Parts: sequence; C-alpha cells; structure tokens
Amino acid sequence: MTALIKWKNHRIEDVEVNLLLQALNERYGYDFTGYARASLKRRLRELMVYFELEHLTQLIPTLLYNEAVAQTVINSISVPTSEFFRDPFVWAYLRENVMPLLASFPRINIWQAGCGFGQEAYSLSILLHEAGLENRSHIFCTDINPEFLNEAKKGCWAARNFKLWQENYQKSGGTGDFSDYFIEQKNTVAIRANYKQHVEFIQHNLVNDDVFKEVQFVLCRNVLLYFGEELQNHVIGLFTRSLERGGYLLLGSGENIFDLQELHPRLESLEYSVQLYRKTSHV
Ligand SMILES: C[S@@+](CC[C@H](N)C(=O)[O-])C[C@H]1O[C@@H](n2cnc3c(N)ncnc32)[C@H](O)[C@@H]1O
Repeated sequence: MTALIKWKNHRIEDVEVNLLLQALNERYGYDFTGYARASLKRRLRELMVYFELEHLTQLIPTLLYNEAVAQTVINSISVPTSEFFRDPFVWAYLRENVMPLLASFPRINIWQAGCGFGQEAYSLSILLHEAGLENRSHIFCTDINPEFLNEAKKGCWAARNFKLWQENYQKSGGTGDFSDYFIEQKNTVAIRANYKQHVEFIQHNLVNDDVFKEVQFVLCRNVLLYFGEELQNHVIGLFTRSLERGGYLLLGSGENIFDLQELHPRLESLEYSVQLYRKTSHV
C-alpha cells in the first residue's frame, strides 16, 4: 500500500507523456496530444497505480503489443462518466426554453458529441418525446471510443444509480413516471425500444474527423474540459460549421472555453448559466 501511494505521487515528466501519446497515436491512431495536460497526467498517474508501474514509460512496450492494455489506457483517458439528466437545472432550461425553439424547425437533427455510455442521448430522447418532437427528430450520438458506443447502443446499465437518475429527472421538471421509460430487471435497467428509434450511434473523433452538416442543435457537455485551448478552439469551429444558421449549441455548464466569443463571433451567447449559444446569420 505504501509503495502504491508512493507511485501515486510519482512525478510524470512531459517527455514521458509525449512518448506514450506518440505510441498510442502511431500504433492505434488515437491522437490525445491536444488534451489538457493536467487532467491527462492525473489519468496516467491512476494507470501507473493500476498497472503497478514506477515509471510511465514502462507502459509503452506493453501497450504497443497488447491491444487489451492499449484499450484500458484509451478508456481511461477518454472518461465515460455520465448520468441521466445530469445537472438537472440544464435539462429544466432545455425543457422550458430550448424545446419550444427547436419546435420551429421542420426537421430537428441533433449532434450529441461525446456520448459515453448513452445516458445523455436517451435523456434527450425522453425530453423530445415529452415535448412531442421525437417524430421529426434524429439524434446523431458520437464518441471516439467504440467500446463506449457499443454499450450506449445496448442502452442497458447497472441499476445502482437509478434512484439518482430518477431524482435528476424530477428536478428537471419531469412529471411522468421515470421508470416507465425502462425495463427493470434484477440488477439492470434497459431503455425501452421506443426511445432508441431516433437515436443513432456513430464513431467520430473530434480531433480529426469532419463536420456533421446542417444540424439544428449540438450538445457537447463535459468533453471540452479535457481538451487544451487549441483543440477546444478547433472543436468549437467544427460545431459552428455543422450548425444551420439559427441553430443552437449547448456546452457543459462548468466548462470554461478559452476566448469562445472572440474566436467564434458567429456564436452569440443566449444563456450564460447553461452555456447555450446560437449561430447567428451575420458574420
Ligand atoms: C465525461 S464523458 C461525457 C458524457 C456526456 N456528454 C455527459 O456530459 O454526461 C466524455 C466523453 O467524451 C468522449 N471523448 C473524449 N475525447 C473525444 C474525442 N476526441 N472525440 C469524441 N469523443 C471524445 C469520451 O470517450 C467520453 O465518452
């Protein structure tokens, strides 16, 4: 235990991080070089404890030849933490203010970027259903990580957090019976097929993949906080180009995006507390 604690506090040099990221990129095509260094080092330190390593570079030969180890490293860097109706005040805002705005579009294409295990995607599906908009909506849910996408597609989770999700739903202004949206089994809850109909999961890497054309709403919450300034700027550009004029962008409420308004003048802030923007029609 003492040894583990010592390793946990072990300093990681930038050169070690650079070498590991180069190995991941060249061998597996995942480019994490633009991610914020502080949180990246935190994840890597956790991996050192997990694999009982004294130096980070000891991981490089193993991950080059062992895909399972590489996947563990990739999963750990990409952090799939999520909840249904996470930050209920944001969902309350969407329910009351954004659903009526989206209702003015004849087709509602939504890009939800960084979907993890899908809880956010299906929360949105439930919200669209309750707003009566699901039949003209399509949600493209993307993530860098194929393992997370497979789980999200299944739409089945351990039941242990269900009570929290139910409370989130109620705090967001949900008046239905949250459990009606799920099939409950002994230790799991599965979203009912109806709420999967308009949801599509696609592998997409925000670092180097292209735009989604003509979407009316982009949600990307709790993803950009892991990125460095340059990568954040690149991704906001991607979202801006993907949005139709008058379309909406929602970021994570705790996310501070460097110089967003100065660098992206086409995005006007609509509500600061929930980080909601609209793409204006002028330059
Ligand atoms: C903390 S989760 C956020 C889940 C959900 N949006 C929420 O707020 O509850 C971050 C997700 O972003 C994904 N991600 C990280 N880097 C990415 C990238 N370059 N391209 C696409 N998705 C990425 C991760 O795989 C992970 O599923």
